[in-house]
Amino acid sequence: MNIAFLNDTYLPIEQAQISPLDRGFLFGDGIYEVVPSYAGKLVGFKPHIERMNHGLNAIGITTSWSEKQWLDLCLRLVEENGSGNLGIYLHISRGTYGSRVHKFPEKVNPTIFAFCFEIPPPPTADKARAKTYTVSTALDKRWGHRHIKSTSLLGNVMHYQQGIDQGNSETLLYNADNELTEASSCNVFIVKNGTVATPPLDNQKLAGVTRQILIDILRQQSSIEVQERVITMDEVATADEVWVTSSSREIAPVIAIDSNPVGDGQVGDIWLAAQTLYSANRFNF
Ligand code: PDD
Repeated sequence: MNIAFLNDTYLPIEQAQISPLDRGFLFGDGIYEVVPSYAGKLVGFKPHIERMNHGLNAIGITTSWSEKQWLDLCLRLVEENGSGNLGIYLHISRGTYGSRVHKFPEKVNPTIFAFCFEIPPPPTADKARAKTYTVSTALDKRWGHRHIKSTSLLGNVMHYQQGIDQGNSETLLYNADNELTEASSCNVFIVKNGTVATPPLDNQKLAGVTRQILIDILRQQSSIEVQERVITMDEVATADEVWVTSSSREIAPVIAIDSNPVGDGQVGDIWLAAQTLYSANRFNF
C-alpha cells in the first residue's frame, strides 16, 4: 500500500483528496521537490529543503514547517513505504481559496502533499551496466523563472514528450543565443579533452542538487577541472562526453544527440571516474 501525507494526515494515497479549487490544481501555483532515498538513507536532504524554501519565498508561500519536521516527514514516509529505492515527492501549493482569482489570496493555508514513488537502484559505476540516454534538442520555450522548482511543469512536460516522440528519452534545451540551458528534467554536463563543464546558474535553469553535489565532489576529490560557464550547442555537438544529472538518475551518460553519436558513441572514462566518486559519497550530502 502506498502511504501518502496530506496536510496533517498519513493515509493510503487513494484516499488523499483535495479541492478542485486548490490553486495547485487551478494554476500550478506551488513548489515541489524530489528527494531520493535508498534503503532508508536520504541523498541531499538539506540542499533539497533549502532549495524548496527558496522557491516558497520566491513565490510568497509561507509554512510554519521546520527543517526537522520535513526530515521527520521524509523518514516516516520512507519507512511506511518499505524503505526501498524511493523518490520522496514534496508538494506545497498556495492552498484552496473559495473562488478562482489570479491575485494571491490572503489567509489561505498552503496544501502540503507528499508521497513516495519507486526509482531505479542507484547507478553502479560500471560502463557495461550504465543506463545510457539518447536525446533530442529543442529551443527552450519555457518561462523566465526556471530556477524556481514550480509545479507549473507544462513547458517541461512538452519538451520531455518531444524527445519521447522522436524515439529518445530526454530533450536538451538551448536559448535564442544557441546556448545550452538544461534538459527538460535534468541538468547537463559536457566533457572535452578531460575538462568537465556545465552552464552557470541563472534563471534559465534549475539549480540541481545532483549538479552541485557532483561539482563539489569532483573539485574536492579529483584532479578533474570543472567549469561553470556558457556552453554553445556547437560545443555540445563536438563534446567527447555528455551527461544528464538528476536526483533519480544521478549521472547518466548520453550516447547520441539527434541521432548523432556523442564522441565515440560509448560511455566515457570521465563518466566512470565521476560516477565512481558520486557512488562513494552520495550519502555524505
Ligand atoms: N527533476 N532541471 C530540471 C528542469 C529538473 O526538473 C530537475 C529535476 C533537474 C535536476 O535537479 P536535481 O538534481 O535536484 O534532481 C534539473 C526532478 C527529479 C523531477 O521533476 O522529477
